[in-house]
Amino acid sequence: MIREGGTSTAATLAEPPRASAPQRRRLRSRRRPALHSGDACGAAAGQRSIASPETTPEPGGTELKLELRGITKRFGSLVANDQIDLVVEPGEIHALLGENGAGKSTLMNVLYGLLQPDSGEIVVDERPRRFRGPRDAIAAGIGMVHQHFMLVPVFTVTENVMLGAERTRGGFLNRRSARQRVVEVSRQYGLSVDPDAVVEDLSVGVQQRVEIIKALVRQVDLLILDEPTAVLTPQETDELLDVMRALKADGKSIVFITHKLREVKAIADRITVVRRGRTVGTAEPTASEDSLASLMVGRTVKLKVDKEPAKPGGPVLTVRGLTVFDERGHPAVDGVDLEVHAGEVLGVAGVQGNGQTELVEAVMGLRPIAAGQVTLVGEPIGERRTRDILRAGVGYIPEDRAVDGLVKDFTVAENLVLDRYDQPPVASGLSLSPRTVNRLARERIAEFDVRTSSELAPVGTLSGGNQQKVIVARELSSPLKLLIAAQPTRGVDVGSTEFIHARVVHERDRGAGVLLVSSELDEVLALADRIAVMYRGKVLAILPADAPRERIGLLMAGVSDTQPAGTEEAS
Ligand SMILES: Nc1ncnc2c1ncn2[C@@H]1O[C@H](COP(=O)(O)OP(=O)(O)OP(=O)(O)O)[C@@H](O)[C@H]1O
Ligand SMILES: [Mg+2]
Repeated sequence: MIREGGTSTAATLAEPPRASAPQRRRLRSRRRPALHSGDACGAAAGQRSIASPETTPEPGGTELKLELRGITKRFGSLVANDQIDLVVEPGEIHALLGENGAGKSTLMNVLYGLLQPDSGEIVVDERPRRFRGPRDAIAAGIGMVHQHFMLVPVFTVTENVMLGAERTRGGFLNRRSARQRVVEVSRQYGLSVDPDAVVEDLSVGVQQRVEIIKALVRQVDLLILDEPTAVLTPQETDELLDVMRALKADGKSIVFITHKLREVKAIADRITVVRRGRTVGTAEPTASEDSLASLMVGRTVKLKVDKEPAKPGGPVLTVRGLTVFDERGHPAVDGVDLEVHAGEVLGVAGVQGNGQTELVEAVMGLRPIAAGQVTLVGEPIGERRTRDILRAGVGYIPEDRAVDGLVKDFTVAENLVLDRYDQPPVASGLSLSPRTVNRLARERIAEFDVRTSSELAPVGTLSGGNQQKVIVARELSSPLKLLIAAQPTRGVDVGSTEFIHARVVHERDRGAGVLLVSSELDEVLALADRIAVMYRGKVLAILPADAPRERIGLLMAGVSDTQPAGTEEAS
C-alpha cells in the first residue's frame, strides 16, 4: 500500500513527551540533511547539478485526453479493479465516486505508475502508454496528490518542490530558479505559500498546496486528487475548489476523488461511479445527492440520522478549567468547562485547529494538562495513562488513524484487539489465543462491513475508509461508559457513515456518554444532543441541538452572542 505506516496509541505512549518548540527547532537543524551532499536529495537540489532545460518552461498551454480501457488489477484473489473504463476529457473536472474499497485509489495508482495493471490500457492523447513508475506518468503529463503527503518535513517548500525534479519535465537550474517557479505557480493558480517556509511548520491545507505546486511545476496537464478535502477545514476546501477552477480555466484536467457529494455537485463536470471494482455508471452533477449515494452503494442510503430525544443521566465526563498547551507553548485549550452525561451526545463544533485536538488528547492522557481537572464517572483521570483510561470504559476513535489508531503491518484481526490483547477472551493465561482473535475479527468484519480479503490481511492493505471502519469496530465492541469520537467518519463513504452514525446513537441509547468532535458541522448537527462551539481554545457557547445553523456558524467564526471575539482583547 502506498500510505505511510504508523504507530498505535500504545506505541505513541511509549515515546517520551513531545519536544518543545525550541527543542524541535534544534532537532530540525541537526536532522536537516545538507542539500549539497551527494545523496539523491542533495543531487536534486545541488546547484547546476541538474540535467534540465536551459530555460524554465511556461506552465499550461497543452491539453491532455486520457482514456483508461479495461483496467484490471488484482491483489492475490481480490479483484480491486475489474475492467474499468474511464475517459477524462481535456479541461474537465471528473469526479470518481465509490464506496470504501471500490478501487478508486488503486485505479489512480495504476494511472500514476505506482501499480502495474494485470490487463488494460492507458491511452494518453490517442497513444497507448505504459508507466513503469510515477516518473513516466509525470513525463506524460499526469500528476498525483496523495491523501497522505509525501513531503520531507524538515525541508523548505522550495526544496520539496525541487526534490526529484531533475529527472522529470521542468527540472531546475538552481535553487533560485526553483524558488521563482514556486512563486509563479503559486500566483498563477492562487495557491498561496511561503516558498521559504519549512514544511513541518505548515498546516495540512498549506502542505497540500505544496504538493499541488510540486505537481504543477512539473507541467502536468492532468492532476489526480485522491480525497484532498478529507483533511481540510471548510474554508480550505472552498479555497481548494477555487484552485481547481483556476486549473480548469487553464485547460488542465482533474480527477477528483471525494466522499462528499456536496463537493462533487459543486465542481464536477462529469461523474463516474465505481462499485466493487467495476464502473457502475456515470452521472451528471445535477443528479441528486440521494441518487448519487444509491448509485455508489447499490441501495438507498438515509442521509439523515434517526434518533429519539436523549434521556441524559449523570455526568460521565467532567472537564473543569482545562488548559492545555500546544507545541509552541501557547494555550491551545484555554480554561474549558464541559460535561458529558450518560445517554447524550455532546458535539464539539469548530473549525479545525481551535483546540479540539488538544482537548481530546488531554482527556485521553496523550497530552499533559497544564491546569484544570478531568473526571471520568467521579474519578479524576488527569494523571492516568491512556491505557488505563481506555480500560476504565472509554472508547476512543482518534482523528488521525495513521498515527494513533492502527499498526499498519499488523493484521486486521490483531488491530481489532490492540487494546485488549492481554485480556480474556482474547488471551488465555499468558498467551494470546489466535483462534479466538480471528473468530472475533470475522464477526466484527461482518458486522461493520469491513471490506478485506481476510482477517489476516495487514491492515495497511485496506482502503482508507475500511481502515477507519476497523478502528470504529474495535472501539465500539466493548461496553463503554464514554465514547470519544474525533472525526469518526473521515474518509468513510455515505453508506458506512450512515452505519457508524447509527452505532454512535446506539451507544448513546445504551447509556454511554459520547463526546463527538467533528469539523463537519453536518455531522455535529446530525448526532449531537447539545453542541459546544470551540474557538481559539475556548468554548464560546453550549447550545441545544436545534440551535440555528447560522448562529453556530457565527460562533465557529468567533462571533459570540455578546461581542465579536476579535474585540475581546481590545476591550
Ligand atoms: N497493496 C494492496 N494489497 C492488497 N490489497 C489491496 C492493496 N491495495 C488495495 N487493496 C485492496 O483493493 C481494494 C480497493 O482498494 P482502494 O484503496 O482502491 O479502495 P478505494 O476505492 O480507494 O476506497 P476508499 O474510499 O476507502 O479510499 C480494497 O479491497 C483493498 O483492500
Ligand atoms: Mg482510496
